[in-house]
Amino acid sequence: MLYLKPEFVTSILLSYNDTMLKGKNILIGITGGIAAYKICTLIRLYKKSGANVRVVVTPNALNFVTKLTLQSLSQNEVFSDCFEINDYKPEHIALTESDIFIIAPASANTIGKLANGICDNLLLSTACAFKKPILIVPAMNTNMWENPFVQDNLEKLKNCGFHILEPDSGFLACGTNGTGRMREPDEIYDKSVEILTKNNFLSGKKILITAGGTKEKIDPVRYITNASSGKMGIALARNAQQMGAEVTLVSTFNADGDFENIVTPTAQEMETTVKSKLNEVDCVIMAAAVSDFRVKEYSSQKIKKTSSDTMTLELVKNPDILKEISDLKTNTKIIGFCAESENLIENAKEKIKAKGCDFLIANDISRKDIGFNSDENEVYILDKALNIKKLDKDTKNNIAKRILEEIFE
Ligand code: PMT
Repeated sequence: MLYLKPEFVTSILLSYNDTMLKGKNILIGITGGIAAYKICTLIRLYKKSGANVRVVVTPNALNFVTKLTLQSLSQNEVFSDCFEINDYKPEHIALTESDIFIIAPASANTIGKLANGICDNLLLSTACAFKKPILIVPAMNTNMWENPFVQDNLEKLKNCGFHILEPDSGFLACGTNGTGRMREPDEIYDKSVEILTKNNFLSGKKILITAGGTKEKIDPVRYITNASSGKMGIALARNAQQMGAEVTLVSTFNADGDFENIVTPTAQEMETTVKSKLNEVDCVIMAAAVSDFRVKEYSSQKIKKTSSDTMTLELVKNPDILKEISDLKTNTKIIGFCAESENLIENAKEKIKAKGCDFLIANDISRKDIGFNSDENEVYILDKALNIKKLDKDTKNNIAKRILEEIFE
């Protein structure tokens, strides 16, 4: 077992600013693992920083640490049972009213259940309903850590936006040396402060994001559209909201999330909405795939099949929303996307000059693994001076996070 010297604990406790996390609500989830004893020090760090700490434990965690200890340190009731009703609100919902949920130590069992939406105890039900950041701090034996199922589950959680503080390697409680040792309380504390700071990074900002492929109606049953799923736009909306921004998602379909959602199926409807909101927001991000053309004459009746083998539809140009809002030269920051199937960088350079936006995010839509309707993307961020930054292939969630950090830096 790892022995934490009392002087070391005291030095950590003294080095933390008294009011760093004043007013923050920290929820700590403890699962069954020997590293549970280190959470006592972690609770002290948060208390020292002025945070309010609540603790939820799995039944197995209570084999390693007592409720009385956790209660005395957190100065709050410790929760373990879904059916212990103390208030009118279900406990797992009341617990979600916290700024961050830190699950430490996180056992392989809890990680597996989290990744598969299983809620068979209070800690898991709370995590399932938790909308703010969740930090997972795994601790387990090396063989368990290296198990492909455990690694797959962690990957799944990462892709869904969970933060993971990977274990250290060293001497483990089971008497072996290897990876699996839970990070020290001060490292967990620092990581949570980093997440909370980033989480507020866009606080006070209003951001409008467009998503999806527009649907240009031909008749009551047919329309012209494209392969955009809206995943990139939704990832941007979710991340901007999680970073503290007030978000409006203008999409061609209904989208779920903690943000305002305005549905505009056609380019013209999108144009009207974006322009009406332009002066109310700090930034517009045009991730939607807007059709460049629409049919000249919409048929209010379903067009009948005729004896002719061909049919001609006359198309007219749609408004170029990105160019028009950039030309207005308001104080709103304007970000465009650029979907290209060839000469990505050259075309992107021409496009940012033609559209006049502040940044352009270029992606290659000829690839199946990124771009349209995929879970991942790889993008180049261009600014007006034609500086280019590549964001290597990653989940759309992580790419969205990086884009927001880059454009608001
Ligand atoms: O939705 P997903 O399946 O997740 O896929 C993501 C994506 C590939 C759709 C996205 O990453 C993307 O590239 N979006 C922009 C698609 C597009 O229309 O690109 P474009 O190069 O044709 O247009 C350039 C920019 O002008 C875009 O910001 C577009 O929103 C805007 N535009 C285009 C035409 C038009 N009439 N008005 C516009 O405002």
